[in-house]
Amino acid sequence: MKNMKSTNIKKLSVLSILGLGFIIALTITGCKASQAVSNKSGAQLWAENCQRCHNTPSPSTFSPDQWETVGLHMQSRSLITEEERNKIVGFLKQQ
Ligand code: HEC
Repeated sequence: MKNMKSTNIKKLSVLSILGLGFIIALTITGCKASQAVSNKSGAQLWAENCQRCHNTPSPSTFSPDQWETVGLHMQSRSLITEEERNKIVGFLKQQ
């Protein structure tokens, strides 16, 4: 009986170590994913996010100020982060 108990405790600690490893692995992959986003250029983010719903209007369509407004408006539509919006708007304003 005494043996059984300690075996169970061992099993439990092995399980919690595995669980912890799993959580750490998830955290690391999470960081890698967000790093991948920040490595993307404004042009790339624009191409990936802005033509899901409509054809992407050419950068020369609007003035820099107008792109700023469009960015705010479309950020709420496309559910991109502020960082992504800034990159996309930065790219659109340069053209
Ligand atoms: C979820 C769908 C969706 C996504 C994603 C999206 N748009 Fe739009 N967009 C719309 C709709 C719908 C309109 C029509 C105007 C309105 O009702 O908001 C529009 C209109 C526009 C217009 C016309 C000017 C205006 O503000 O009305 C521009 C320019 C534009 N989008 C740019 C973008 C850019 C740049 C992105 C990427 C950051 C983007 N859109 C992502 C749905 C989307």
